[in-house]
Amino acid sequence: MINIRKAAIIGCGFVGSSIAFSLMQRGLFSELVLIDANKKKAEGEAMDLADGMPYAASMDIYAGSYEDISDCALIIVTAGASQEPGETRLDLIDRNVEILKKIVPEIQKRGVEGILMIVSNPVDVLTYAAYQISGFPVNRVIGSGTVLDTARLKQLLGEHLSVDARSVHAFIIGEHGDSELAVWSGANVSGIDLHHFCELRGHFKHEESMERLYEGVRDSAYEIISRKGATYYGIAMAVTRIAESIVKDEHSVLPLSVVLNGQYGLSDMALSIPSVTGKHGVEEILEIPLNEKERSALLASAGQLRAVIEKLNM
Ligand code: 2OP
Repeated sequence: MINIRKAAIIGCGFVGSSIAFSLMQRGLFSELVLIDANKKKAEGEAMDLADGMPYAASMDIYAGSYEDISDCALIIVTAGASQEPGETRLDLIDRNVEILKKIVPEIQKRGVEGILMIVSNPVDVLTYAAYQISGFPVNRVIGSGTVLDTARLKQLLGEHLSVDARSVHAFIIGEHGDSELAVWSGANVSGIDLHHFCELRGHFKHEESMERLYEGVRDSAYEIISRKGATYYGIAMAVTRIAESIVKDEHSVLPLSVVLNGQYGLSDMALSIPSVTGKHGVEEILEIPLNEKERSALLASAGQLRAVIEKLNM
């Protein structure tokens, strides 16, 4: 039996606790279970967050255990190592897959019927590993994917064009990592072709701007990590947005990391592709049109992830 208003977060580091804070602000859940290998840390976070409750939506938030998760609508996994300065997300794979191998069977044996969302990195590879370990149907295993990168692109484009980032429609797809790509061919501002809108705003050097903005997105986490040691608020907002679409059954199109089944000729791996998202998790993976350059960049990104998956000790 699923309680649509109940979620769990596994891993209460900076990312997990920021997600808890963000979910609390949005008032999506009435019960939130925090689980961490260090129970005291989870307790401290729950106590700290509960102190803010009278100024947010009411919610039962507590440090729990796997015994508490069987009826959760959403289980968010953030546990694992995060990037140190100079590390890529893929560098984390060996450490984080071992952690996932301990966590997912705990979830699986509780008969969870809700959605499993992986946030730990490298998110696409771990989403596929979680799918394999859990045996859950494909629609119920998702990764936060490039929802954050897409927000970064919207934000940078919004700044560049002095327009509300929410009016910008564009996707980052592929790996949530160094081989990701921007789908410029479909980008627009409220339905107005991107290049046309740029010219309306006095920008004519399209190639140069697209390259600069793409690099800004791709390297954003490195830039943040080199300054403050970690990223957590952006990902917390991205996860909250995904959770909202699930809890409210919004059918929003979000570039989640999803297990592919022939899209773009790819299968047996997870990659970030725009997908209709609702209470059943992934409703449909959208094989959006790509130009030739984008298609080959996507296949190259998939190739990089495939090489990592093949080396996995599963
Ligand atoms: C981010 O992109 C590090 O994946 C994390 O902020």
